[in-house]
Amino acid sequence: MALTGISLIAFLVVHVGLNACIWANDNGEMFNKAAHFMGSTVVIRIAEVGLFIGIILHIIQGLMLEFENRSKRSVGYQVPMGNRGSKWYSRSMGLLGTLILLFLIMHIYHFWTPSRLGGIGNIQALQPVEYNGKEYHNLYAEMITVFQSLLVVILYVLGCISLAYHLMHGFASSFRTMGLHNQRYHKIIKATGVAFSIIVPFVFAMMPVSIYLGWIR
Ligand code: HEM
Repeated sequence: MALTGISLIAFLVVHVGLNACIWANDNGEMFNKAAHFMGSTVVIRIAEVGLFIGIILHIIQGLMLEFENRSKRSVGYQVPMGNRGSKWYSRSMGLLGTLILLFLIMHIYHFWTPSRLGGIGNIQALQPVEYNGKEYHNLYAEMITVFQSLLVVILYVLGCISLAYHLMHGFASSFRTMGLHNQRYHKIIKATGVAFSIIVPFVFAMMPVSIYLGWIR
């Protein structure tokens, strides 16, 4: 669980960094070129298969852990500890994970299906755009279209909030499981985890918000 979690954390770093190119204010040129590089490089396409396997494994491991925890204690605690024993988000990892999964299904439908499968249902194939005589997929234009809907923007922001709380427990917990937990490193890992869990989902959430509010075009 920790290994797949850390791989997904690494994916988020690449994903948020690449997507941040939308703020270059160059009508999506830098972002489209970066996305094209990711979509057309063989090693990265193989890593993409690994990513999807990682997501599925992480879900299966999470479900198994949840069932194991429940089966160990058929009778609940006499006195609920509330936040004194553990934080609410640590006790709600299954729920937060499910919300992220729902977000991911919507998200893959919005961007991955037009990019890789030519679109399904209401989502059309990506339009081409030309830079220096070379053709690219206009994934940026797709983002602008998708984030014109307030409902979609709200769902994305809620997805990012769920991700923030999921990471708040998951980040430090993965490192602890890997054995990186002692007096010396505990504070650094905890602080890095909190910073990561706030900054990365915040930057993600600002993408649909910036587009919806017309801060980038
Ligand atoms: C909220 C702002 C986000 C935006 C604007 C965004 C945008 C995109 C775009 C444009 C793609 C398609 C890339 C391509 O096909 O080349 C994509 C793929 C993907 N995104 Fe996001 N994303 C966001 C947040 C997230 C978050 C929070 C997660 C995970 C929790 C996530 C997980 C994924 C996954 C798994 C893929 C498929 C990756 C692949 O093609 O290999 N995204 N995203």
